[in-house]
This record gives sequence, C-alpha cells and structure tokens, in this order.
Amino acid sequence: MITVLFGGSRENGNTATLTEKILEGQDYRWIDLTQLTLKPVRDVRHYDSQILEYNDDYQRVIDQVLESDEVIFASPVYWYSISATLKSFIDHWSETLQDPRYQDFKAKMQKINFRLVLVGGDSPRIKALPCVQQIEYSLQFLGAHLASYLIGYAEKPGDIEQDQYAMKEAERWNSNFLASID
Ligand SMILES: Cc1cc2nc3c(=O)[nH]c(=O)nc-3n(C[C@H](O)[C@H](O)[C@H](O)COP(=O)(O)O)c2cc1C
Repeated sequence: MITVLFGGSRENGNTATLTEKILEGQDYRWIDLTQLTLKPVRDVRHYDSQILEYNDDYQRVIDQVLESDEVIFASPVYWYSISATLKSFIDHWSETLQDPRYQDFKAKMQKINFRLVLVGGDSPRIKALPCVQQIEYSLQFLGAHLASYLIGYAEKPGDIEQDQYAMKEAERWNSNFLASID
C-alpha cells in the first residue's frame, strides 16, 4: 500500500498535482493532514509517564502509515520549511516512542520506503534542501531512511506543469512504481 501524507493547504495546488502525477495509475491512499486535528506534542520523555491515548486524529493515521510499504510526504515549502501540519504529525512520533503499545514502532518504520515531495516558489531546489535533511534526520533517528526526494518549482496553481525537471522526474518515479509491481 502506498500512503500519501499531504500537508498542503491547496487541495488542487502544485504539490497535489505533482504528487498525483507521480502516482498516476497506482492505487494509493491520500491522507490530507490539514483536514485532521493534530494537537501539540506531549513531551513525557523525562517523567515516569507513558502515552496510552491520543486525543486527536494521529493514531488513526500512524496506524495507516505503519501498514504501508511506501509513504510519500508531500508538502509545499512554507517559510523555508515543510508545512506546520506535516511537522505536527512528525512531532507525534515522540509520543509513539513513549507508547508501550507501539514497541515495534521503529522496526515497522524501518521497513517503509519513504519519499518526499516538496514544491516552493523561491529557488526551492536550493533553499528547501534543509527540509530534505530534516526529514532524512528524523527518519534516521528511528533507524529508517529517506529513499528519494523531488523538489518542484512553482508559485500559482498550475505552474508546476512548466517545471520540466519536476515533470520528468515525476514520470521517472511513476515508471519505477509501475516496474516495481510487475
Ligand atoms: C505561508 C506560505 C509560505 C511560503 N513560503 C515559501 C518559502 O519559504 N519558500 C518557497 O520556495 N515558497 C514559499 N511559498 C510559496 C509556495 O511554496 C508555492 O506557492 C507553492 O507552489 C505552494 O504549493 P501548493 O500550490 O501545493 O499550495 C510560501 C507560500 C505560503 C502560502
């Protein structure tokens, strides 16, 4: 199962267009994180305390992530960062690390093929590179890793179609997906 964690604010924006192009012809689950409630992370690491419940939509999504073979993080670049919505989801991983029901959290994350799709309007292929590192380091912390990333250059909805590099890469990723299920 391929799962997309979509962190953009425009459901028909450039990030969605690019990600959908990558996945053309595939079966996938699209999770729009902006439609969910994600509360701020509770940091219980240094107290004699555990996480045993989540009072938001996180648990449903992390369960879907953990049963996926492939996860694509898809986010516009907002203030030289991944979107706050996507970051908020990632912050919750610290809770899961304190949740005795998820002893196998790292082991399961290590089996997933993670990819990252970013789109920005201000020299994103250079200025959004810290976002790639951020995701790679976050996954490394769990013993997992980022298999690949694609950064698109676009400002207004539809602009991404003019980014020939991103469009070509999307086609290449798409043919890799098709090849991997043959
Ligand atoms: C709040 C906000 C912050 C932004 N910050 C950046 C930025 O730091 N770097 C950048 O390259 N583009 C930035 N942009 C431009 C968007 O990344 C760009 O318009 C992108 O195409 C939006 O993706 P979307 O069409 O999927 O919504 C910002 C846009 C918004 C709304």
